[in-house]
This record gives sequence, C-alpha cells and structure tokens, in this order.
Amino acid sequence: AADQVHRASTFAPVNIAVIKYWGKRDTKLNLPTNSSLSVTLSQDDLRTHTTASCSPDFTQDSLTLNGKDQDISGARTQACFRELRQLRKDVEAGDSSLPKLADLKLKVVSENNFPTAAGLASSAAGFAALVRAIANLYQLPATPTDLSKIARQGSGSACRSLFGGYAGWQKGEEEDGSDSLAYEVAPASHWPDMRACILVASADKKDISSTTGMQATVATSALFQERANIVVPKRMKAMEKAIQNRDFEAFATLSMKDSNNFHATCLDTDPPIFYMNDTSRAAVRLCEAINDAAGKIVCGYTFDAGPNAVVYYLAEDEERVAGTFKAILGDKTGWEGKKGQAVKSDVQVP
Ligand code: PMV
Repeated sequence: AADQVHRASTFAPVNIAVIKYWGKRDTKLNLPTNSSLSVTLSQDDLRTHTTASCSPDFTQDSLTLNGKDQDISGARTQACFRELRQLRKDVEAGDSSLPKLADLKLKVVSENNFPTAAGLASSAAGFAALVRAIANLYQLPATPTDLSKIARQGSGSACRSLFGGYAGWQKGEEEDGSDSLAYEVAPASHWPDMRACILVASADKKDISSTTGMQATVATSALFQERANIVVPKRMKAMEKAIQNRDFEAFATLSMKDSNNFHATCLDTDPPIFYMNDTSRAAVRLCEAINDAAGKIVCGYTFDAGPNAVVYYLAEDEERVAGTFKAILGDKTGWEGKKGQAVKSDVQVP
C-alpha cells in the first residue's frame, strides 16, 4: 500500500581533487595509499539527485540512474547497502517503536544533471548521494564523516562529496578502514571568489577505469612510491595551508604540480596509461600563456583519469581565464553549464 512507502531525497555535488587519490592499499575496503584533497563544485552545475525508498511491496533492491536500471550486484554497492542497513538495525534494536525498515527492500532513483559518460567524476556524486539518501531514509544519527566511511566503499572519491567547499580524505592507518575518512578543510564560504571551469576534451567513457589504472600503477610504477610516501604527504600540508590563507598562487601551483605528478605515474605504469590527449595538452599550454601574460598565477589546471581539464581561477580573473578559454577553444568545450557559460562553476556552498 502507498502509505507504507518510506522515502527520502538528497543532492550530492561533484568534487574535483587538487591532490589526487591514486592507489589502493586495500581494494575491498577502498583504502588509499595516500591522502587527497578536493574542491566541491556548485550543485547548480554538477550534482546527483537521489531518492531512496523502502516498502513491504518491493520485491528486490534496485537502483536506476537517469531512468536506466543499474547492476547493484557489485561488491561496492552491496557494501553500502549492507553497512547502512546494519546501522538502521542498531537504531531499531534500541527502540522497538520504530518501523523495521532495515528488513525492507530498497529502491534508489538517481538523476545526474550532467552527461554521466563525460568523465566528470559522476561516481563520486553518485555514491555520496546514494549513501546520504538511504541514511536520511533510515534517520541515522550519522555525521558526514561517519557517512564518508560508507561512501568510500562505493567509490573512494565519493567520501569527499559528503562535504561542500574544501574536503580532505585522510588515508588512515587502520586495517579495518575506521580512520580512512573525509573531513572539512574549509567551507566554500571561506573563499567565495573561487571559480572552476571544465573543458570537456572528450565525452567518451575512459578507456581504463580508475580501479584498473590504480592497481597497475601501484604494481609497476617506480615513481609511485615516491609520490605516495614523500610527494603527497608534504603537498597535503602545503595545500591545506594555501586554502587556509586563501593563497591562490600556491593553491594553483600545487594543483598543477600534483596533477602532473599523478599523470607522470600513469605514464610510468607498464604498459603506460595516457589519460591526457592533445586537447588536454593545449589546455595546459593555454593556462601557462594566460599566467605568463598576467605576470602571476591566475589559473591552475587539474586532470582526473581522463582528458577533461578543470581550471581553477578567481572571480576577478573570469574574463582573462574563462573568457580566453572560451575564445580559443570555443566548441571544443563540449558541455554548457546551467549558467550558459563554458561550463563554469562556483565552488559549492554546503
Ligand atoms: O573514486 P575513484 O575510484 O573513481 O577514483 C578517482 C581517482 C581520481 O579522480 C583520478 C582522483 C581523485 O582523487 O578523485
């Protein structure tokens, strides 16, 4: 009966790392080999909306994304369902007046307001929204950090999408993953002038999934140990400081260096992995030219496991950064943001 359907909805934003997660020390629990840090993009531009419901009428768990049925048999999605159900069971055990929702089948309906296949970190927003929607449905007394540990098991980078603004993911030391969690570095309001524009160099699905790529890099790259053990720990501290001080030049310089260091370990993987293409490299050169012309660092690029560039800049440099990109790359920027600009975004306000 319709009155027996319980339902809750939520939004979760896309996040783009400026210190990259690349490498797992535990593939089952998604425990990383290094900490990472990201900037959350505006929900007006890139986000997942998810509704979770449960009812005695449902005969099986299900998940649809943009109207299409998704395979939920994978260990990642199952881990999220299992952990959330267990937390609900714990709550129900303490209060017998509560409805027994943990025993009911779940129906999860998600919509992305951006092309899913475009390599725009859709899994991060997707798993963060799934976890929070079910947590809301179950009325769990869980903090964003608690939920980040569950979302992490869905997709590593998803743990950072439980926070707005600037989010860190500490790699943790424990084998059970209990301290591998996301935390807020600063809210978006801390740096209201931060902007990002996304240049879609290709909307194709990436050739090598991040999981496969990471495993190969960990197994074969000689540069990888240096990155995980020496380069990133230093950079995490410097990046947190740059954000605290709203030091854009340091923020952008560290972002570019970390992106290049990550892609260097991909190239150093056997066989080599090429995520960046000619358009990506043109975007790098254009950032350099814009910074040279300005006589200071006014923009910084970063690339995930694909050819699309995310370019960070400050609102005051909108014209010379986003304007120049739009003028030069024109229709190569394949996706238009809601604001009608070449996929530009404010940083997400939580
Ligand atoms: O969360 P995953 O398994 O899709 O891996 C994400 C990896 C990068 O996007 C390349 C880096 C990051 O920190 O988001």
